[in-house]
Amino acid sequence: TWRMDSFVEHTIKEIREKVGDGKVLLALSGGVDSSVAAGLLSRAIGKQLTCVFVDHGLLRKNEGDEVEEVFGPNGQFDLNFIRVNAQERYYGKLAGVTEPEKKRKIIGEEFIRVFEEEAKKIGAVDFLAQGTIYPDVVESGLGGESAVIKSHHNVGGLPDYVDFKEIIEPLRNLFKDEVRKAGLELGIPEKLVFRQPFPGPGLGIRIIGEVTAEKVRIVQDADYIYREEVDAAVEEYRKEHGEAPEWMPNQYFAALTNMRSVGVMGDERTYDYAVALRAVNTVDFMTAEAANIPFEVLQKVMSRIINEVKGVNRCFYDITSKPPGTIEFE
Ligand code: XMP
Repeated sequence: TWRMDSFVEHTIKEIREKVGDGKVLLALSGGVDSSVAAGLLSRAIGKQLTCVFVDHGLLRKNEGDEVEEVFGPNGQFDLNFIRVNAQERYYGKLAGVTEPEKKRKIIGEEFIRVFEEEAKKIGAVDFLAQGTIYPDVVESGLGGESAVIKSHHNVGGLPDYVDFKEIIEPLRNLFKDEVRKAGLELGIPEKLVFRQPFPGPGLGIRIIGEVTAEKVRIVQDADYIYREEVDAAVEEYRKEHGEAPEWMPNQYFAALTNMRSVGVMGDERTYDYAVALRAVNTVDFMTAEAANIPFEVLQKVMSRIINEVKGVNRCFYDITSKPPGTIEFE
């Protein structure tokens, strides 16, 4: 078996040979794949690489700043980093839109528009880099169910809205766990390397119904608390037993239902939103079971969310399997 440091070394050499003194453009999402691609390219060609990071205002709490800390001018990588703060623009486009597919479409199209505008400012580049990994290559080749779902989720094909000559995909022979190893090898923080899957449309599809800045704030804060408490409980279990608990979810997040109901806070009547907590155990994300998170952990999460997040007075735990449910809510 080949070692990861030799993969990194070898790939850096390959990139240098291929790119020469050309310019490379990469859309950086902050996800594992595009981050590792950015790290590799940066080590290979430095400032010949420009990364465009579009903050659509639908990221998890603090995530935009975390991406900037790692890849921005004060980070550890040599590259041109462009952060586009497109929050208001996205919220504007999404105002009044409630239909899930329409929301996905708007978010996807708006990404293309923002990226296209930035690409125009940069001008012609020689290479467009993508964080494609081996399973993406196989899925699109075989056209299986997974490929259908992927192309449905992510904009497929080569973008024709950027002026470039060639595609460069430095991760196309790697599986996910190898991508993570390469990321660690490159010095990308563990927090980013072991990030759980996050959908392209982000919190846009975890807010049922209309997306507003206020609802984004609620779901971000609730989700942050939920993840903090689950992570702490997992860590505690690990310390005690030397291994992760069986219930440790492969993906867990909070969503905001579009339901408001009556509650009581102090001696005030409230009429606020309900948060749904989702956590699943899954191998391939095609089928999944609700994770058996200990009740006392869920209770603590509920109590913290209702006390700390203004606008929430009820918490649900989603026990639906996939199928018939999906992991996300829209
Ligand atoms: P569902 O909701 O279809 O989710 O059961 C299965 C897995 O796919 C992720 N997901 C997405 N990933 N773009 C992505 O890159 C998307 O639009 C998207 N929608 C869902 C979801 O988080 C889960 O891991």
